[in-house]
Amino acid sequence: MSNRRSFIKKTSIGIAGTIIGSSLYSCNNKNNNSMSNIPIVISTWKHGFDANEKAYEIINNGGQAIDAVEEGVKVSEADPNCHSVGYGGWPDRDGNVTLDACIMDHTGNCGSVSFLQNIKHPISVARKVMDNTPHVMLSGEGALQFALKNGFHKEDLLTDKARKRWEEWLKDEKYQPIINIENHDTIGLLAIDKKGDIAGACTTSGLAWKMHGRVGDSPIIGAGMFVDNEIGGGCATGVGEAVMKTIGSFLIVELMRQGATPQEACEEGIARIVKNQNYKEMQIGYLAINKKGEHGAYAVHNGFDYALYQNGTNQMINAQAFAK
Ligand code: GLY
Repeated sequence: MSNRRSFIKKTSIGIAGTIIGSSLYSCNNKNNNSMSNIPIVISTWKHGFDANEKAYEIINNGGQAIDAVEEGVKVSEADPNCHSVGYGGWPDRDGNVTLDACIMDHTGNCGSVSFLQNIKHPISVARKVMDNTPHVMLSGEGALQFALKNGFHKEDLLTDKARKRWEEWLKDEKYQPIINIENHDTIGLLAIDKKGDIAGACTTSGLAWKMHGRVGDSPIIGAGMFVDNEIGGGCATGVGEAVMKTIGSFLIVELMRQGATPQEACEEGIARIVKNQNYKEMQIGYLAINKKGEHGAYAVHNGFDYALYQNGTNQMINAQAFAK
């Protein structure tokens, strides 16, 4: 503890959350300081559970973390019942499903796409940007042209259910973009493979009923997700504007570099948001892992749950929150 900054000590509670339907999980227990915590896969919200299953399967078969995170979040992107990611996502206020995603590997290489339409798996386009171009980020029409040239196909991502829900919203909400604590369940997924390498992915359809052209934190390396193979990784879900203003995921990794536990880093990330922003109507949740396979989670409000696959068990956990 001697190398930790004092403000971190003051905010530390050392508990990431509560296993749903079971007992407390302490992320600071002694067993967490061993390699037995690796591999690990962690992701946001209940749709993360199935994403974790896919990611862990790849890692368990000796695969790399970068492949695991991509294939994991693709499960959520393809799920029509996941209304904040990919196919079936709630549209913007004009009825367009627009997608943001980013991915980062253990070498610090990364790729991202923003404001991409009609492509079911934006995370795989982000991966191609990372692997096959000298760039980090492609946006809008350029990202779409790149995707089509690389074998992706245009699809209508607005399901009947999403279109009907949007039409209802138009009547009630009078075309105003609304920030609230319910309409942004982005998936962020972090993993450490059997070799100890870390990777992360983040993908979303963004805030429901957003203004056309709005891009959130999810495709921004350092905001929606960041990994550093020497230290760990962080990812965000919730109102992207608040995360972008504090460069949340990079902040979390840098705090861990200075000695914070993943839990302490997530709590400080949320503290930076609530200090200067009106957090009453916005939910933000952070997840973090460090190189040892310890994890942390924290949110502005209660209700943020996450999926943790570790030691052969995939489970949902309720994160602790700032606003009780
Ligand atoms: N965190 C997702 C978004 O704000 O778009």
